[in-house]
Amino acid sequence: MDVNEVIKVRRSIRKYQIKEIEEDKLFRVLEAGRLSPSAVNKQPWHFIVITDPEIRKRMKEAYSRNWFYEAPVILVICVDPTIAWVRGDGEKFWKVDGSIAMQSMILQATEENLGTCWIGAFHEKTVKKILKIPPHIRVLAMTPLGYPDETKSKVNKRKNMEEILHKNKW
Ligand SMILES: Cc1cc2nc3c(=O)[nH]c(=O)nc-3n(C[C@H](O)[C@H](O)[C@H](O)COP(=O)(O)O)c2cc1C
Repeated sequence: MDVNEVIKVRRSIRKYQIKEIEEDKLFRVLEAGRLSPSAVNKQPWHFIVITDPEIRKRMKEAYSRNWFYEAPVILVICVDPTIAWVRGDGEKFWKVDGSIAMQSMILQATEENLGTCWIGAFHEKTVKKILKIPPHIRVLAMTPLGYPDETKSKVNKRKNMEEILHKNKW
């Protein structure tokens, strides 16, 4: 698929097959995150790949949907705000950096015919406890990763271009 096709076919997937993910596919997904751009090239991210069924089950305590922890892999995107770029006016960029890495991995997963769903509504303290994440590290996002067990052909509703595009001024 070309990039435009990948962007168009990606959907949030909330039902996964039990089928395991091939190592080379998982590697390319993680590599897409590693190669992402970041402010001042700080690369403040860490990725946790959870395949252990017991740990996946425990992750239910942090986000309780069955389809989330039943997927063969849970990918957790962490960021170290202590090394991420801070602009002169104090604006912090760690969330931007982590989000770019997350989106790169989501798009690569789509290319590999793997499903993802950006999870933001999790309990961060619980994730940190289960995964033994150091105190100064933030958990930005998570996604289940696996072969979709649902077909979503309908395009999710988006705003029209006229609603969001401004030419030359607001
Ligand atoms: C920052 C962010 C947080 C999200 N958090 C959740 C979540 O906690 N649970 C969930 O089911 N979907 C979550 N989503 C998925 C959105 O609901 C979904 O992307 C949106 O409805 C558009 O649908 P689509 O991804 O299929 O195009 C999140 C998406 C983003 C970008």
